[in-house]
Amino acid sequence: MNKPGLRLGVLASGRGSNLESIIRACSAVKIHAGIEIVISDRARSQALEHARRNQIPAVHLDPKAHSSREDYDAAAVRLLHEHRVDLVVLAGYMRLITSRLIGPFKNRIINIHPSLLPSFPGLRSHRQALEWGVRISGCTVHFVDETMDQGSIIIQAAVPVLDGDTEETLEARVLEQEHRILPQAIEYLAEDRLEISGRRVILKSPKPSAGAMVVSPMIEIGL
Ligand code: GAR
Repeated sequence: MNKPGLRLGVLASGRGSNLESIIRACSAVKIHAGIEIVISDRARSQALEHARRNQIPAVHLDPKAHSSREDYDAAAVRLLHEHRVDLVVLAGYMRLITSRLIGPFKNRIINIHPSLLPSFPGLRSHRQALEWGVRISGCTVHFVDETMDQGSIIIQAAVPVLDGDTEETLEARVLEQEHRILPQAIEYLAEDRLEISGRRVILKSPKPSAGAMVVSPMIEIGL
């Protein structure tokens, strides 16, 4: 398949709504990228169905067929190389990845996480946020390194946590933002506008935008 722009390999475990947001952005040519392969560790992942429906090569890579996490990742790297992937996108990928995958794709793997990192890493981030009682939550796109959910942050989007929120309502509000910032982060990389400086990611030639502040709950601050 010959598509212009960045060649993406997407790894996804579940529902695949973030994958769909990338597919939509690619089809609408809102981002200069194309998905070359989708890999899932779960045979029944809806992500694989979305990929097939969109004529994107979709592979179930079965963890049980590999003796270790390293072997599994080595198999993933072979597939990604076969499809000449430039950027690996973890879009709801629920496996921890090893240096076998990170090494060959240094600073070329990004992940979307459903919290404002470094708060609430790992699993069940919305439950963690609700239990902590934060007033603002959100999502983060970050580079992936050997740590879990601690790589350099590319974009974050914040949403209010409302008093009546459940894990489901908060998830839905955050997910809407995930679908905006993940394609945006891919586009920054496609445009080669990101520079990593220590822990910080610098956006080169940022476009002017109105300053914004998020306050939650929406009370009168009186100042
Ligand atoms: C998303 O909320 C994503 O941020 C999260 O899983 C969900 C996948 O949804 N990822 C993680 O928790 C990674 N630690 P999707 O399959 O509909 O894209």
